[in-house]
Amino acid sequence: MSSPTSLSISALAKRLDGEASEVWAVHDRALDMKAAGEDVILLCVGDPDFPTPEPIFYQALAAMKRDRTHYSPAQGELGLRQAVAELESKTSPHPCSADDVVIFPGGTNALYSVFSCICDLGDEVIVPDPMYVGYCGVLDAVGVNAVPVPLLVQENFAVDIAAIKAAVTDKTKAVIVNTPGNPCGNMMSKEELAELAAFTREKGIWLISDEVYSMITFKQRHVSLRAAAAELDNVIMVDGLSKSHAMSGWRIGWVVAPSTLVPHLTNLAGASVFGCPQFIQDAAAFALRHDDFYVAQMREEYKKRRDYLVERINQMPGVSCVSPDAGMFVMMYTGEVSEGGQAFAERLLDEAGVSVVPGAGFGDVTANYVRITLAQPISVLTKAMDRMALMLGAPKAQIAR
Ligand SMILES: Cc1ncc(COP(=O)(O)O)c(C=O)c1O
Repeated sequence: MSSPTSLSISALAKRLDGEASEVWAVHDRALDMKAAGEDVILLCVGDPDFPTPEPIFYQALAAMKRDRTHYSPAQGELGLRQAVAELESKTSPHPCSADDVVIFPGGTNALYSVFSCICDLGDEVIVPDPMYVGYCGVLDAVGVNAVPVPLLVQENFAVDIAAIKAAVTDKTKAVIVNTPGNPCGNMMSKEELAELAAFTREKGIWLISDEVYSMITFKQRHVSLRAAAAELDNVIMVDGLSKSHAMSGWRIGWVVAPSTLVPHLTNLAGASVFGCPQFIQDAAAFALRHDDFYVAQMREEYKKRRDYLVERINQMPGVSCVSPDAGMFVMMYTGEVSEGGQAFAERLLDEAGVSVVPGAGFGDVTANYVRITLAQPISVLTKAMDRMALMLGAPKAQIAR
């Protein structure tokens, strides 16, 4: 039966059509090849390969047994909001209370909710180039125009504060920074964050900081925007447990925001999610309060993997990388051996059976790069690097070690 042609599809839905597929085309092809039985190594996705630490899992189970399986307040369970506030108060000179926190099912939903509450159709938001691809969908859905400001490649992908200042127009509603950053692992200093916070406040625009990699740092400790900013009334912080606690499938994220915004975020959560599961929030609160050992263990393993990848890549002919300070990825420069990261990624999949993400998916600045995940054990990374070295014609001594 044919459907009536007058049935409507919203402008919002149409804005989301087709966007993400190009970025993931190589990955999708790799998945198809794998499904067809080919020996493909997947190095695309930033989903921790570690299981969620067992005690967290048992907390959820115990909470379910306590009948914590019912509706939950739209703002989030007090216990989890308190745990977030404790963490924030520890890492910032500004006290944080549970009233400043709103819980969402993951960082992506938290970002979507933030932009929905602060922007209208046609507003501008300044974003880093390169940026986490998930921002595209969020900003498209809300209908705002992303204004990319290139990171400084020569300075290890540092944020260009002067360029951000110059990009502000009378349509700018917000600047988003991502520290530590995906895909480049760059970290902002306290001084940079403080300067940007003061500037945006003076301009009357929001400064949003996405800090989902805050616990995966290899060099210096993470500095949060709330720790750096002198005043907090235009400052929004987004974080979550997907990366730090290997809890991507539990869907827990949060926003710490000023009191002018919290009620709006809560209203939106009430109109959309209507509360995250109680037992998941209980387990998340436990995770935040008892995480020293597990988070450190995973961080150490990511660091080993980073060091391994960086060493192998920089031994190979024609490709190179800098060692990222944080995060779950290594960005590899491919400009000397291919016409861009896209061509390299295609070739790597076709000739070596290894899939990586072309850098163009994150922005123009990284068009000559590919992103390689750290979320695979060293045994898998070794196999992938051996195959890549063979493809690039590296000396035999550097292969199959
Ligand atoms: C920079 C950044 N922000 C936010 C997210 C969203 O994470 P989640 O929705 O799982 O909390 C991701 C996930 O990859 C990310 O890389």
